This record gives sequence, C-alpha cells and structure tokens, in this order.
Amino acid sequence: MIYSLAPMEGITGYVFRRVHAECFGALDRYYTPFLPPPRVGSTFGGKNFKEIDPANNEGLNVVPQLLTKNADEFVWAAQLLAEMGYTEVNLNLGCPSGTVVAKGRGSGLLRDPDALEAFLRDICERSPLPVSVKTRLGLEDDGEYARILAVYCRLPLAELIVHPRVQKDRYQGSPRWEPYGATLAAAPFPVAYNGDVFDTADRDGLLAAFPATRHVMLGRGLLANPALARMMAGGPPATREELERFHDALFHAYEEVVGGNAVFRMKEWWFYAKCAFADPLAVHRAVRKVRRAGEYEDAVRTIFSGMELAEEARFHG
Ligand SMILES: Cc1cc2nc3c(=O)[nH]c(=O)nc-3n(C[C@H](O)[C@H](O)[C@H](O)COP(=O)(O)O)c2cc1C
Repeated sequence: MIYSLAPMEGITGYVFRRVHAECFGALDRYYTPFLPPPRVGSTFGGKNFKEIDPANNEGLNVVPQLLTKNADEFVWAAQLLAEMGYTEVNLNLGCPSGTVVAKGRGSGLLRDPDALEAFLRDICERSPLPVSVKTRLGLEDDGEYARILAVYCRLPLAELIVHPRVQKDRYQGSPRWEPYGATLAAAPFPVAYNGDVFDTADRDGLLAAFPATRHVMLGRGLLANPALARMMAGGPPATREELERFHDALFHAYEEVVGGNAVFRMKEWWFYAKCAFADPLAVHRAVRKVRRAGEYEDAVRTIFSGMELAEEARFHG
C-alpha cells in the first residue's frame, strides 16, 4: 500500500514535510500544496520556489501540484520541474474555493467536460513529465462524475487521485464511496483514494469495501495524529514526548523560515493537532489568543506538561 501526504495549502509545505519525516518517518510520497505556474519564460520565484527547491525536499518523494487552466503555463512549469529532477506533475482539479472556481480553475475545470478533455489532452501530449490528477466528482452533484470519469479514462494519466466529494460539499458530509469504486473498476491507470481516513479502522473499512485500493492519501487525519502512517504499518501511536519534540522542531523550523509568523503557522497546525488531546477545546483556548513567541511557548508548555492525551488521536472537525 502506498501512503501519501495530501497537499494542504498553508500546512503541508516543505517545512512540515521535512520535520514530520524526521520525527515520524517518511511517507511513501508527498504532494506539494498547489502552486500557480510561472508565466511562460519566467521561473518559480519566492515561496513557490522554496516549496519545490530540491534542497528543501532532499530524501523525500515529492510530486509538485499545479493549479491552472492555462495549458502553455502548465507545460512550461512541467519543463522547469523536469529540469529540477521531478518525475511527475499533479494537476489540481479539486480546489473548492469560490474565487478559484469562479476563475475556472481547480474544481471549476470540471464544469465543462469537453473543455476539460481538450485541456487535459493538450497537457498530456506536451508535458515532459507524466501528469497525474487530483479530482473531485463534480460541482453540484455526483451525477456529473460519469462524464468526467469517461474523459479521464480516455487519457494517459499517470494516476488519478479521487477525493469523492463535489465542490459544493467542501469538506462536509461523508465521502461518496461508490464513485471511487466505479473509478477503480473503470480506470486504465492507477487510482488513489483520499478523504476522511482518520484512523486504521477507517483504512480497514475502505480496504474491506474496495480491496483493489493501492494508494491512500492522508490529510487531516495525519495532522491530528502525526503517527498515523506509522500506525497504518502496525507501529505504535505517538507518545507525549514524541509529540512535544515534533511540535518544538516544527515551531523552530517555522521560526527560521517565517520569523514572527511562526506562531500563526502553529495555530493553524493546532486546529488539527488539538485532536491528540483528551480536551481539544482546552488546547484551543490555550493557544487561541497568543500572539508573541514567548506567550506562545508558555501556552505550549502548559499543554504538554498538564493536559492529558486522547485515548486515540483522531481528527474531528
Ligand atoms: C486547509 C486545507 C488546504 C488544502 N489545500 C489543498 C491543496 O493545496 N491542493 C489540493 O489538491 N487539496 C488541498 N486540500 C484538500 C486536501 O488535500 C484533501 O483532499 C482533503 O483534506 C480531504 O482529505 P482528508 O479527509 O484526508 O483531510 C486542502 C484541504 C484543507 C483542509
């Protein structure tokens, strides 16, 4: 089984990937949060370059993800990524954000399957790297997916990662398993599952229903329980000491990279990480109002020295 880390904008960037791999072992594969391709003729700059800079991703199997509806820019970016040594590029066809969808990007590209096919055919033909796709089922209704899946099946995708919700669902409600099963049955290329796999029982349920599953992408579940992938392989849950060490390494790595914004980054992480504690609300209250690094470190010591761990660290929204 392949376990990969989901792309999560603002959270699973290179700092998180590196520190997490150091503390809990590397996953089989990582996807970068979505990157806008540079204009044709330009290079990736600033924080987008740092995200894919091979020096920041050493030893990890990373697939860069692009968010665009511009085929020329996709192909140009794929060329740059190939030159940096990447061996696959992923296209985001799932982002549900209103502004992204309104511009016809992310899941907005699913609105018109004919246009989607023309776009994908063009990039698959011209990209120097194999193209994988991360998709939702449609915008409003999972009935849209039959046509979308038929489009995918006509194309030489490297892999199709299915997050079986529609745009309108955002991250609410249960993932719709049937269309994932239909994908496994129909696709001539490898398929991956993503959505609400928060513990080993969730994974076991998925495998019982769909024994052909070969790749599970973990997102919020791994943020709430950093030992999740290790546990999937039969390993132990995280101890308090491991969690604290992971926290400290992550905070200090963010301080090096984003300085004063490290507290803000860590508060985003705590939104998920609080689920590792028996009283997530108390954890939330402890970190909610802090602004400065010193106050933050005091709050964190209170959490790690005084608060009980949950019996099972499991994401709950
Ligand atoms: C804060 C946040 C940021 C995300 N950013 C991205 C992204 O950059 N690219 C992408 O394909 N999906 C993105 N996603 C979706 C996740 O990759 C994943 O599909 C989703 O969280 C469902 O998987 P999970 O239930 O295992 O968390 C994001 C989700 C969240 C909550």
